[in-house]
Amino acid sequence: MEWKFSIAPMMDWTDRHCRAFHRVLSRRARLYTEMVTTGAVIFGPRERLLGFDPSEHPVAVQLGGSDPQELAKAARICADFGYDEVNLNVGCPSDRVQNGRFGACLMQEPELVGDCVAAMKAAVRLPVTVKCRIGVDDQDTEMALDRLTDAVVAAGCDALTVHARKAWLQGLSPKENRDIPPLDYPRVYRLKQARPDLPVAINGGIKTMGEVREHLRYVDGVMLGRAAYQDPEILLAVDPDLHGDAAPVADAFEAIEAYEPYMAARLAEGERLHSITRHMLGLFTGRPGARAYRRHLATEAIKPGAGLETLREAVAQVSRAEERLAYGQSSPVFADS
Ligand SMILES: Cc1cc2nc3c(=O)[nH]c(=O)nc-3n(C[C@H](O)[C@H](O)[C@H](O)COP(=O)(O)O)c2cc1C
Repeated sequence: MEWKFSIAPMMDWTDRHCRAFHRVLSRRARLYTEMVTTGAVIFGPRERLLGFDPSEHPVAVQLGGSDPQELAKAARICADFGYDEVNLNVGCPSDRVQNGRFGACLMQEPELVGDCVAAMKAAVRLPVTVKCRIGVDDQDTEMALDRLTDAVVAAGCDALTVHARKAWLQGLSPKENRDIPPLDYPRVYRLKQARPDLPVAINGGIKTMGEVREHLRYVDGVMLGRAAYQDPEILLAVDPDLHGDAAPVADAFEAIEAYEPYMAARLAEGERLHSITRHMLGLFTGRPGARAYRRHLATEAIKPGAGLETLREAVAQVSRAEERLAYGQSSPVFADS
């Protein structure tokens, strides 16, 4: 099942470096780009916006837009770039997105979303999917989600990922809209029950692999956002626990080693170390030395010319702390994380 486990699209977070890093922790997780608007895809610097490393497959691009013809054109461009799936954002509540009449406010215009999906399906051979909420504002979530689902399924949508809470379009920031409207997982389970043929993935507030497995009793897939980003080591369990494959690396130390060739290649192209390592700050969470690791990266990786040596120095803080722990000596770093 292609959507069994995925890492959510997250603006400013799931850029290509982040995705390549997550890929060293799981070969099977499906990765999503940050949302890219149709205007940016059609008129913007494409290679910078859409370029990705071949290691990232399977990787889906998430589009923001509501003009069927523009979405079709953008989908075609993304297909030419080699993406494995095109996903439409029907969940983002930011004001900027509402002004453009896309994102979560499209929950109120299911027929238009259907037209968008139909146009993209006609334009590409890839799976076309939708990520939505269970409703917005005072919508009845039974009706709103059913109507949206009916429209996109009729248009040929290949899978639906549902962030299991409403978006409130007035008065909440996007961040608050990820925490304050209450979660309603059973609503998503009911959707799956009612549409056994549609692949349905659930998203929102899921933090552990135990929770992932529990949700998989009711739906086809689980999408993790913040938990995967903030504590990427949990991704090590995805391949063995969910797919019966060996984990690609044994632990966070090996993950960094496996990621080094990618980092070296980007640094050689002129990328700054910090642009890459900023996505790795959550590594070693809960281990002695994690704070020293983070502090070293925060102060040193931003310096011009910082290279892999800087990262190795940061990692050495963790190893040394562990040795000290092994010998039973106390250290201030043990108080961290
Ligand atoms: C920093 C950040 C940026 C996000 N950007 C997007 C986005 O571009 N497109 C989207 O559909 N959702 C976006 N989201 C929402 C996530 O995809 C996800 O639906 C939400 O965080 C709930 O899942 P979680 O509780 O597992 O994090 C973003 C979330 C965060 C934290």
